[in-house]
Amino acid sequence: MRILVVGGAGYVGSTSVETFVDAGHDVTVYDDLSTGHAAAVVRPARLVRGSIEDRQKLQQLLRSERIDAVLHCAAKSLVGESLADPGLYYRSNVAGGVSLLEAMRGAGVNRMVYSSTAAVYGEPRRVPIAEADRTEPINPYGATKLAFEGAMRWFAASHEFRAISLRYFNVAGATERNGEDHDPETHLIPQVLRVATGEATHVQIFGQGYPTPDGTCIRDFIHVRDLGTAHLLALEATAEGDSSLEVYNLGSAAGFSVREVVEAARKVTGRGIAARVVKRRMGDPPVLVASSRRARRELGWQPEHSKLEQMLADAWAWRLTHPAGYSRQPRTDGLTLDRGSSEPRGERPASRSASASA
Ligand code: UFG
Repeated sequence: MRILVVGGAGYVGSTSVETFVDAGHDVTVYDDLSTGHAAAVVRPARLVRGSIEDRQKLQQLLRSERIDAVLHCAAKSLVGESLADPGLYYRSNVAGGVSLLEAMRGAGVNRMVYSSTAAVYGEPRRVPIAEADRTEPINPYGATKLAFEGAMRWFAASHEFRAISLRYFNVAGATERNGEDHDPETHLIPQVLRVATGEATHVQIFGQGYPTPDGTCIRDFIHVRDLGTAHLLALEATAEGDSSLEVYNLGSAAGFSVREVVEAARKVTGRGIAARVVKRRMGDPPVLVASSRRARRELGWQPEHSKLEQMLADAWAWRLTHPAGYSRQPRTDGLTLDRGSSEPRGERPASRSASASA
C-alpha cells in the first residue's frame, strides 16, 4: 500500500509509520512539525512539511505520491488547551480535517483511517464503553473529534468513501525508536517517569474523591505498538466494501487507577516516586474503560503489548535512551537535530514530491 500519514511525526503517527514500514508499505508523512519531530520519522518514509489547512498542497501530494489510503493523526489534543482556545481546536481538528477530506476527494483517494478518542463519550453512563453508547463530549477537544467523525460520515453518505474511526483510550509505551515527547507534557505516565529520572520532585495526583475503589480516576491504557497494528488492520479493511464510516474503540479492557499507575511505575523503575494529591483537573471523567470487542471481532485486532508493566517498562527504556527527548538526539546518519529546527541540519526534507518544501 502507498500510505500517507498526516501527523506522522507525532507520538502515535511516528510509531504507526514504523509498523507500516516494517510491513513493507510505502509511507509518506505530512506534518507541520508544530508538535511532531522530524527525527521521529523513520526511513525510508519520506517527510513533507506542510499544514493540514493547505488543501492544494495536500491534493498535489496525494496525486504525486499515488496514495492509496490515508491515516489521519494530525490534531490538537490537549483537553485544557481546548477549553482555553476552542477556536484553535475547531480550526485545526474540524476545518483542517475537512481540507484533508476535500484534497482526498480532489485526488480521487477514498480510504481513510482516523485517530479519534474516548473523549467523544464525555462522562460515560456505563463502563466498559461500547461504540453505540451515547457521545456527549464535555470539552472542545472531544467535540471537535466527534464533529470530524460527522464530516466523514457525510462524505461516506454522499461520495464513494470508506473510512474507519478508531477511538483510542489512554495511549502509553514506546518503541525503541519513538516515544512520548510533548511540550508541554500533561499525560500521567510521562509525568510519573519525570519524577523517576529526577526531573521533577513529585507527581501531582489530580483528586482522590472520585467514585472508584481508591478514589483516583481509572483509565484504560493501550500500548502505542498495539495501536500501530490496529491502524494497519483498519487501513487494510478499507480496501473494499460499501461506502461507510465504521467506528471502533481501542483499549485493553483493563482499567488502572492513577495510584495503581504510580505504584506500578515504582516497581518497574526501581525508583522512589513521590506523589501528592492536589485538586481535581477540570474535565476528567472518573472512569474510562473501553469495550474493544468489536475491533477484535471485525478487524481481528488483538492487543499484545498492553500490560501496564510492559507499557511502563517500554516508556521508561525510551526515556533512559532519550534523556532529552528528540532534542539534540543523535541520529544513525550522524546528523543532529536541534529542538525547534524544522529539519535535520545539512539535510533537505526527503521527498520525491514536487510540492515538498520545508
Ligand atoms: N493525572 C494526574 N496527574 C498528572 C497527569 C494526569 O493525576 O500529572 C490523571 C488525570 O487526572 C487522569 C489520568 O491521570 O485522571 C490520566 O490523565 P492523562 O492526562 O494521562 O490522560 P487523559 O485521560 O486526560 O487523556 C486521555 C487522552 C485524551 C482523551 C482523554 C479522554 O490522552 O486524548 O483521555 O478523556 F481525550
